[in-house]
Amino acid sequence: METRNSPEPPLAPVDYDRVQHQTYARGRALPADAIDRYMAVFGAYVPVRRPLAGIDLGSGTGRFSPALADAFGGPIWGVEPADGMRAAAEADAAHPRVTYLAGRAEAIPRSDRCADFVLMFLSYHHVADKPAAAREIARVLKPGGRLILRSTFQERIPDHWWRSYFPRSADVERAMFPTEPETRALFEAAGFTTVESVQMEVPFEGDIASLVARLKHRAVSTFEHMTEDELSEGFARIDADLAAGAIVEKPTLGDFIVFETPQEPAIA
Ligand SMILES: C[S@@+](CC[C@H](N)C(=O)[O-])C[C@H]1O[C@@H](n2cnc3c(N)ncnc32)[C@H](O)[C@@H]1O
Repeated sequence: METRNSPEPPLAPVDYDRVQHQTYARGRALPADAIDRYMAVFGAYVPVRRPLAGIDLGSGTGRFSPALADAFGGPIWGVEPADGMRAAAEADAAHPRVTYLAGRAEAIPRSDRCADFVLMFLSYHHVADKPAAAREIARVLKPGGRLILRSTFQERIPDHWWRSYFPRSADVERAMFPTEPETRALFEAAGFTTVESVQMEVPFEGDIASLVARLKHRAVSTFEHMTEDELSEGFARIDADLAAGAIVEKPTLGDFIVFETPQEPAIA
């Protein structure tokens, strides 16, 4: 009889209050034109009226929340469970139309039908109870509201410039991220329809020296599941290749799925 190996144990949750709240903003900072490019792309998928109220769900250090307010009008609520990440957002990403709130996707601290859109930017894979999150997002969105779910999916692990320096990182990411079909099925079970599954070219994030400097902050949750030996060996090879001018930045594709809540039935 064929025997199957038992599945790998699930990865431990990443505690953003341990180290990353101190490093995330610098390690994941994006040039203003990259933020603008994301807003332009997302703008094609949110409702056309302005202003739009939105929730940046898993807002972290507020990397996108002020730009969402500028692009779509607001108010924007940045909902974030890690106190340290939220404190960094309040200190360094304040905006008159952004309010940062303690909360999580499974229990969003906002009223029913308050938002025209929800953005989850690389936060969905951290959510422990994903069906509860889908129900909560359906609750806070207005009829016809949109969810933009920016995530990686197991079947399309991005080919980052740094991937070859950390050979086990792709396996780690396959264990971290959901598949696209299971994600669509989960949101469709909560009443959403899938509008589109998009693969966009990730906007230019700066020259290779600044990419290396940012990566050294280790503000990548993949690294939290790797050993210190793996990381130092990878960074030593990066330093050698950087000195030799041998690192090439290459375009990377990033995924997002757009979901929509049902429209209000027309009054007869
Ligand atoms: C990779 S960071 C992304 C932050 C921000 N969206 C960005 O792109 O800069 C992931 C964030 O998700 C948050 N998070 C973890 N569990 C969550 C949950 N259940 N609901 C909402 N956010 C969560 C983490 O605390 C962390 O700040």
